[in-house]
Amino acid sequence: MSQQKAPQDTCVLVTGGAGFIGSHTVVELLKAGYKAIIVDNLYNASPVVVDRIKTIVGDDLAQNLKFYEVDVNDREALNQVFDDNQIDRVIHFAGYKAVGESVHKPIEYYTNNLGNTLTLVDVMRNHGCKDIIFSSSATVYGFPDKLPLTEESPKKPATNPYGWTKWMIEQILTDLHTADPEWNVVLLRYFNPIGAHPSGLMGEDPKGIPNNLLPYVAQVAVGKRDYVHVYGNDYNTPDGTGVRDYIHVCDRGTGHVAALNWMNGRTGVEIFNLGTGKGTSVLQSIKAFSKACGKDLPYKIEPRRPGDVDANYADCSKAKRMMGWEAKYDIDDMCRDGWNWQSHNPNGYES
Ligand code: UFG
Repeated sequence: MSQQKAPQDTCVLVTGGAGFIGSHTVVELLKAGYKAIIVDNLYNASPVVVDRIKTIVGDDLAQNLKFYEVDVNDREALNQVFDDNQIDRVIHFAGYKAVGESVHKPIEYYTNNLGNTLTLVDVMRNHGCKDIIFSSSATVYGFPDKLPLTEESPKKPATNPYGWTKWMIEQILTDLHTADPEWNVVLLRYFNPIGAHPSGLMGEDPKGIPNNLLPYVAQVAVGKRDYVHVYGNDYNTPDGTGVRDYIHVCDRGTGHVAALNWMNGRTGVEIFNLGTGKGTSVLQSIKAFSKACGKDLPYKIEPRRPGDVDANYADCSKAKRMMGWEAKYDIDDMCRDGWNWQSHNPNGYES
């Protein structure tokens, strides 16, 4: 049984805590009174992020944050972090995340994402820390039979190695609990995270050409790309374009705080969807971003992108019922904050 503790006595290690979702989550953890330790190798994140987190939360709460530039695969270094700190719980974000790239680099994706997870849980076990939140994905639902997706909807075969790593890590963590019921595992299945911190100090900073819709739209808005490529308008959706459940990245952060509060003193394996429950089409998203930036954004209809589902949105009633959490921001808020970040930081953290 994990020990019940107040947030101010609870130290949470956040792997990948300098990344897009990780950094916004760390802000919410600190605001909720938790102590946080970021472990990040900065492969896909900027060191500037740690300073931005401190600026956002202020000097007092910033004292509750530590940062280690460590790769979770580096067992010795990770061990040292656990030796030097009394870590109570872990939130595991660190991993490669580009769907398309994973198809071409399966060895790298399986080695990194599965390998770092196995190293992490082994080091945790050796230090008597058995509480973990894993950032899983709606991708484990594959092509849905019916919408909205509930936590009981069946897992389906993934369509790419990235998706399989999420799928397999869920299984690994479930098996850990079967072998040792003291483990306390929360699997958070994320729908599409967008937006940015309302301060404009933190946001998504994709390297190269963005794969995801909203970061691409944001770059069109700021003049870095000519037009939005709309992948297909013959889907079985109201306007024919793909529908997704976009969730503000800050809502994601509060979702993690809710999960940390909820898992306090428990054991078991629990799954929660984190979304808004509302579907938004590609064209509606472009329209919402156009409103946010004050100009009509150009787009072209193109063929479908292989592997995309028609529509995908969550039933989030379990998270509300059990953890008291629900998303607060709507698509207009997400686009407003996304635009605020993009327009003030056209080159991401480099600027
Ligand atoms: N889309 C475009 N143009 C683009 C990019 C995307 O029209 O330039 C469309 C897609 O076809 C889809 C929608 O916009 O209909 C959303 O696509 P994203 O690439 O933004 O997001 P996905 O839903 O494909 O993928 C996201 C995450 C994955 C996760 C998956 C399942 O990026 O990590 O959701 O939850 F696995």
